[in-house]
Amino acid sequence: MSTVGNSTNIFWHECPVGKHERQKLLNQKGCVVWITGLSGSGKSTLACSINRELHSRGKLSYVLDGDNLRHGLNKNLGFKAEDRAENIRRVGEVAKLFADAGLVCIASLISPYRRDRDACRAMLPDGSFIEVFMNMPLALCEARDAKGLYKLARAGKIKGFTGIDDPYEPPLKCEIELSQRDGICPTPGAMAGKVVSYLDEKGFLETK
Ligand code: ADX
Repeated sequence: MSTVGNSTNIFWHECPVGKHERQKLLNQKGCVVWITGLSGSGKSTLACSINRELHSRGKLSYVLDGDNLRHGLNKNLGFKAEDRAENIRRVGEVAKLFADAGLVCIASLISPYRRDRDACRAMLPDGSFIEVFMNMPLALCEARDAKGLYKLARAGKIKGFTGIDDPYEPPLKCEIELSQRDGICPTPGAMAGKVVSYLDEKGFLETK
């Protein structure tokens, strides 16, 4: 009897067309670009910018955005620690499937807890989980406050808001860190360029 989690009597079925064939078809290698950072740090903008840049180079990528996924797949989850952990776990599993499909999967979530991000990293083949830390100061994110949520959190109308009364654990060792230079934030295009260059250098944008 085979048991996985709460499932019993289940078997893995292998398809004859594999990751390698898909990657050859697409002339790229599947991977996950995982963007983490505070709300308002520019994760979604960066994700879309990377997506556009790759598209213009003829490379297939897909964005998994935390806010968007909470409209569907993750709509039964809130923001307590267990819910965030489950949110990250599910997105990690979906991202793994997209990478297996041969795509550059761009996941953009606050993903505040190191343990949850590291668990996603562990799901993927070595080197194919690329953690991008949007290291923007809380003061900047709060000043932007595009959704007005920091204001509500400061007023105590939202409880457990990341950076205000819920923790954000920065990565200890990420592949790419993006931050301000001399108090100026690089443009989304410049930051996307850095990520795409990394993918290029590591050979993800070709098959060989
Ligand atoms: S995560 O912590 O589980 O990774 P996720 O990226 O999916 O979060 O969703 C974050 C978005 O939810 C924020 O950009 C913000 O718009 C909204 N949000 C609502 N409540 C909270 C909260 N308590 N903490 C952080 N973000 C919140």
